[in-house]
Amino acid sequence: MQDGSTVINFIPGPVTPSRRVMKALSYPMPYHRGKEFSDIYKEIRSLLSPLFGGDGEISVISGSSTAGIEAMISGFSLGKRAAVIADGKFGERLGDIASIYSKVNYIRAEWGQTPTIDQLDSSLNEAEYLLVVHNETSTGIEHKMDVISDLASDKGVSLLVDVVSSIGGMNVEAETWNAKALAGGVQKCIGAPPGLAPVMVRDWGGYSRASYYLDLMIYRKMSSIDQTPFTPALPLFNALREALIEVHEEGLRRRIKRHKAISKILRKELINLGFKLFPEMGEIGRYSSTVTAIVVGKAEKVRELLKKRGILVAGGQGPLKGKILRLATMSNITERDVYALVSSLKKVTREVS
Ligand SMILES: Cc1ncc(COP(=O)(O)O)c(C=O)c1O
Repeated sequence: MQDGSTVINFIPGPVTPSRRVMKALSYPMPYHRGKEFSDIYKEIRSLLSPLFGGDGEISVISGSSTAGIEAMISGFSLGKRAAVIADGKFGERLGDIASIYSKVNYIRAEWGQTPTIDQLDSSLNEAEYLLVVHNETSTGIEHKMDVISDLASDKGVSLLVDVVSSIGGMNVEAETWNAKALAGGVQKCIGAPPGLAPVMVRDWGGYSRASYYLDLMIYRKMSSIDQTPFTPALPLFNALREALIEVHEEGLRRRIKRHKAISKILRKELINLGFKLFPEMGEIGRYSSTVTAIVVGKAEKVRELLKKRGILVAGGQGPLKGKILRLATMSNITERDVYALVSSLKKVTREVS
């Protein structure tokens, strides 16, 4: 907090970066056409590669995660038929973006549920692309990408995946899913400040230019000399590099295990306290290990009272506002933080009832 008091941040991004990462924001800025920046950019892309889970060409756009998502969707789906899994705010948003560039078929389910395999199967008959959010941050559901990618590949449909709230904290498997392209986020499980958008392209077939600033092909060309086409947000690159080094110091596998274990403890504690988990698991969903959503009466009041106790949590989005709370266990959240949250939740919910 600005007054120096400590808070525990359970908001699903931006998370609170470590001191080391924040310090990097004040490093001297390298010249963006010089060797120093090229080395940083190259290192960042190579550190990101295992987080995406496969080989592919990585670009980092200066812009929020949506910049990367729009770059990916616009370039690949321009003038084509795209099916979109829309069972939460970010799935809906993929559809909103795609409908600017392509013909969209929404595969819908009520937020907090998931479409059935039958729904998916029939919607894919007409599609050239399937757009899916790996980890739907608005509902706390991880989509089962193994099932989805098998269905897509059976129908010869190319996969574009939003991995914004999973990369660096959950298993992202670009190669196993045979994804054409994936767009990630840096301000969530990776633990960097917001403002950069990493995108991986594994197969350029079908790509065409749909935008100037967000044309991935121009990023590709400049990546070959380890530069970005436009002036990069230099302090953010310094901070992202530091955050990625931290991820690799912990070890990606260990980090993913830790996210899983902590979210499991949180879910167990919440159930013990009598809370109902919000998502209902269907055929293609499982509980996310980075965002846990619970049904809470007077959710906004509870959120305010938690904030007074130094605990930041997120409310529901869109139609879910006031009905649920979202508790993120991303990046540096510890078991101790989780117990502090649970204990405060217990007191606060008693206060409001
Ligand atoms: C799954 C998902 N996709 C996209 C976004 C949008 O990211 P940004 O606000 O950085 O553009 C978010 C942000 O919460 C997200 O969780």
